[in-house]
Amino acid sequence: MGEKITVSLIKADVGGWPGHATVHPDLIETAKKELEKEKGKLLIDFHVTNCGDDLELLMTHRRGVDCEEIHALAWNTFEKATKVAKDLKLYGAGQDLLVEAFSGNVRGMGPGVAELEFEERKAEPIIAFMMDKTDPGAFNLPIYKIFADPFNTIGLVIDPSATTGFRFEIWDILESKRVFMDCPEELYKMLALIGAKSRYVIKRVYPKKGGKLPPEEAVANISTEKLYKIAGEYVGKDDPVALVRAQSGLPAVGEVLEPFSFPHLVAGWMRGSHNGPIMPVSQKNAVCTRFDGPPRVIALGFQLSNGRLIGPVDLFDDPAYDQARIKAQEIADYMRRHGPFEPHRLPSEDMEYTTLPKVLRELEKRFEKLE
Ligand code: 13P
Ligand code: 13P
Ligand code: MG
Ligand code: MG
Repeated sequence: MGEKITVSLIKADVGGWPGHATVHPDLIETAKKELEKEKGKLLIDFHVTNCGDDLELLMTHRRGVDCEEIHALAWNTFEKATKVAKDLKLYGAGQDLLVEAFSGNVRGMGPGVAELEFEERKAEPIIAFMMDKTDPGAFNLPIYKIFADPFNTIGLVIDPSATTGFRFEIWDILESKRVFMDCPEELYKMLALIGAKSRYVIKRVYPKKGGKLPPEEAVANISTEKLYKIAGEYVGKDDPVALVRAQSGLPAVGEVLEPFSFPHLVAGWMRGSHNGPIMPVSQKNAVCTRFDGPPRVIALGFQLSNGRLIGPVDLFDDPAYDQARIKAQEIADYMRRHGPFEPHRLPSEDMEYTTLPKVLRELEKRFEKLE
């Protein structure tokens, strides 16, 4: 083919059913209808789904990342779905559409975006991850393990095309700046940053120079949009998504999935204000119930065929992840017993953009000075 393929995963919460639990099927149908109109035109292929209350649009095309027409299509689709959500009086209809009108790119307007543009290989496995009830930092630990931890990814040790390691692009989302770091050389320093996952988030991963894959083509992309930074107040959690390519010089599909056997603690859950375990589930089980959670992640696998999405395979719909789910529920029990206490509740600096400061402001005038 020669011409590069772009995979765009764009998501938004445009109304929950009920509360923040899941997406009503009419919204999925509306989105499918909208994208279908562009199949064979703007789009090569698409897949519409949901993770919890987030409507997820996976699209393939040849127009590159940050393409205005593709972003406009996503925005208009979310607007159409919002109309349906309003008619059904779903919860928080239009929640993530934070600006009045679309202007060029959905980034900074509320939706989350992960896009990859690349030359499609002879066989091109790609995994779309979607999370609900958490923030972009939730991807730091698994992405680190996939591309930098030899105890997770044996390919880093035994596959000659992977032993050189990978290059990470890390964003400081507080100060809007970025740094590139090479692993394994800078592994310890990189952990110094990405361990602080509410501030430093992995945005992209690249192959290194001199390897099997072109070093300028990212092999993983994670949505890093922070809703509170756009809205200036709490309107829901960011609920990030990620795209990860696999095999032939990259981690194998099983190495990409392996970190999710550990339900690590992430920020989000009830009112976006609590630490809790991220539970890997099948798509049909991506319904956030207990305490509006626990936070969930789904993984849909595809082979690309000239941009056609051959799939999905619902990768966590597998008894091999039962143990992780049981562990997640044990952790959920343990964390819940802390009630309003930290570290179940997020630390004060992370609570700044929730509804808590309003309560604290009320109390301020009651305080007396200590000698
Ligand atoms: P197969 O022998 O099933 O192709 O698997 C090879 C592999 O690399 C598994 O990770
Ligand atoms: P969402 O970010 O998924 O809308 O959840 C918000 C919330 O407050 C859950 O309790
Ligand atoms: Mg919601
Ligand atoms: Mg959500």
